[in-house]
Amino acid sequence: MKHLLVTGGAGFIGSNFVRFVMRHRPGLRITNLDALTYSGNLENLRDLEGEPRYRFVKGDICDRTLLDSLLKDVDAVAHLAAESHVDRSIIDSGPFFRANVIGTQTLLDACRAAGFAEGSGKRFLHVSTDEVYGSLPLERKDLLFTEVTPIQANSPYAASKAASDLCVRAAQHTFHFPACVTRCSNNFGAYQFPEKVIPLFVTNLLDGKQVPLYGDGLNVRDWLHVEDHCDALLTVLEKGRFGEVYNIGGNNERSNLELTHLILQIMGKDHSFIRPVQDRPGHDRRYAIDSSKIRRDLGWEPTRSAWPSALESTVKWYADNRAWWERVKSGEYQTYYQRQYGAR
Ligand code: NAD
Ligand code: TYD
Repeated sequence: MKHLLVTGGAGFIGSNFVRFVMRHRPGLRITNLDALTYSGNLENLRDLEGEPRYRFVKGDICDRTLLDSLLKDVDAVAHLAAESHVDRSIIDSGPFFRANVIGTQTLLDACRAAGFAEGSGKRFLHVSTDEVYGSLPLERKDLLFTEVTPIQANSPYAASKAASDLCVRAAQHTFHFPACVTRCSNNFGAYQFPEKVIPLFVTNLLDGKQVPLYGDGLNVRDWLHVEDHCDALLTVLEKGRFGEVYNIGGNNERSNLELTHLILQIMGKDHSFIRPVQDRPGHDRRYAIDSSKIRRDLGWEPTRSAWPSALESTVKWYADNRAWWERVKSGEYQTYYQRQYGAR
């Protein structure tokens, strides 16, 4: 692998992934293709400016002409570009199906035209989500998502991701397209857009504001540190078997109430900072990942996700980087925040 194209590299996971790969693969060049939507931010990779192995291109994965020109000497693609927030998909699903489905199919077609095929030495990684599997019951702790759990996407976001997974599967099955799919649980860490629950709650509290907890707060997520995720993505990109799906989880299930209490404790705030608000429509109850396949077959292990230390260092990052999130929270975000929480 000499030249990697990362899509969505100016977003949360993408920027962490670009930095992770630059650090761990010193012989590799990276082109970062990102449309810079509301969640894409070049400040996330300011430290790489001027680095000769790194190039940023502002553009859309739906732009076939641009893709054809970029893919000429690329031998690997890590596809992370997507619309990624469930609540926004409930307000307006159009951008999700455009970016996640049409965008992925356009990228697959362009890669095939550029010679991506089994035996070519080229490799494609499609980054998906555990949300395609739907929801698990709270009372059945023995049940986890495995790679053969049926796809039962419940939100417009999850439906668009599931559709994109199937586009990749079809390309692999029909054309021997050299692809792997990963499905990971909820990520946390530095540079996450403060619409997702952890950076939203931490930055609200840093501003002395309450945190909006949906419904009864008992919904469960399996929290994975973004650098553990990046490590898994690079592992699958380099060593995954074509046609395979790999689940990636932090083995770190927490209810939203437990998460909120821990954040409050770390930040020295009391429970009066919790503002219970109306639940999200169709709110998935529990996500929990069985990641034994990637551990067994590819030797990956999460080593950075353990709480409370990983959550403490994440809170500290937002406390130390106020200028970053204050800029991110201004502008378009204020309109979204009012619409999402104003009447709740
Ligand atoms: P993000 O919203 O922070 O970043 C998405 C990036 O994609 C942004 O930089 C945006 O500008 C870019 N983008 C969007 N549409 C584009 C288009 N049409 N062309 C080019 N670029 C475009 O999201 P994230 O949290 O970093 O998620 C990255 C990937 O990981 C997504 O595919 C998401 O579905 C998946 N994922 C995320 C999580 C999580 O917890 N954050 C969990 C599971 C899976
Ligand atoms: P989120 O970060 O949006 O990720 P996802 O919906 O993809 O899992 O939400 C994580 C959990 O936190 C989810 O159960 C919804 C809940 N939540 C709140 O209680 N309040 C909020 O303001 C947000 C954004 C999320």
